[in-house]
Amino acid sequence: MEPLLLDGKKLADELKLEIAAEVATYVAKGQRAPHLAAILVGNDGGSETYVGHKVKACEQVGFQSTMLRFPDTITEAELMAEITKLNNDNTIDGFIVQLPLPKTISADNVILHIDPKKDVDGFHPINVGRVALGIDAYVSATPLGITKILERYNIATEGKNCVVIGRSNIVGRPMSILMSGAGKTGNATVTVCHSKTKNLKEICLQADIIIAALGKPEFLTGDMVKEGAVIIDVGTTRVTDATAKAGWRLKGDVKFAEVAPKASAITPVPGGVGPMTVVSLLLNTLKAYKHAF
Ligand code: GUN
Repeated sequence: MEPLLLDGKKLADELKLEIAAEVATYVAKGQRAPHLAAILVGNDGGSETYVGHKVKACEQVGFQSTMLRFPDTITEAELMAEITKLNNDNTIDGFIVQLPLPKTISADNVILHIDPKKDVDGFHPINVGRVALGIDAYVSATPLGITKILERYNIATEGKNCVVIGRSNIVGRPMSILMSGAGKTGNATVTVCHSKTKNLKEICLQADIIIAALGKPEFLTGDMVKEGAVIIDVGTTRVTDATAKAGWRLKGDVKFAEVAPKASAITPVPGGVGPMTVVSLLLNTLKAYKHAF
């Protein structure tokens, strides 16, 4: 059977139109537009691309955006001073510090220094803790994007067996918390699997929903998936491919050709979870603009 393709690109475009329409109503009333700032340290190729996507998305919905670039020689103290400025700038609703940072700077210290009310990445422990407690918070972009996909495609989660593969702070862990929580896309029975998990295949075969977020291309194969399962592929590994224009192509954590025929619904890579993460950042910035919490 053909699976339902969970089209993150299409959904992201729809959500961007909705955000743009809402922003237009504020601007028509004479209010300033929402404003997102991004700090980029050094010259990491991936980070440049991601921040570029975020700035472009801001333009598409009528947000103001500011990109602040610093060389990788910036000290932790200097970066902290820049963050203090953004924390205190009333014309900026939210900001992100693109990761990874140079080894000379502690990402943990940097994240702790961001005002939780402006932490639209949802990385500050206050936001992570609020998510764990089920209190309104900035949910980090990838988990928020996945919940939007589940919501818009009416994927039932209540009482389902959900297996999350990967326990990262920004995807696997928060996703497992959301799926087991009492929210609209929660109430699932969640198993978190990781590099030390035994019998991973047997556990996956019990799953109604699998969220693959371990960062290993084509890890989830057809023999690990139950007939009719819903598959969310978070992987975005760049693998070299001489036939691709850029010399590389994105590969998910799911072996699509094998898994898709067994799945009832599946996200493609690219065009699945990826485009939704950028929209989630816009949604969090809009929330900050409205001083929603
Ligand atoms: N690096 C990879 N993903 C992210 C993200 O969502 N936010 C930030 N700030 N850095 C990242």
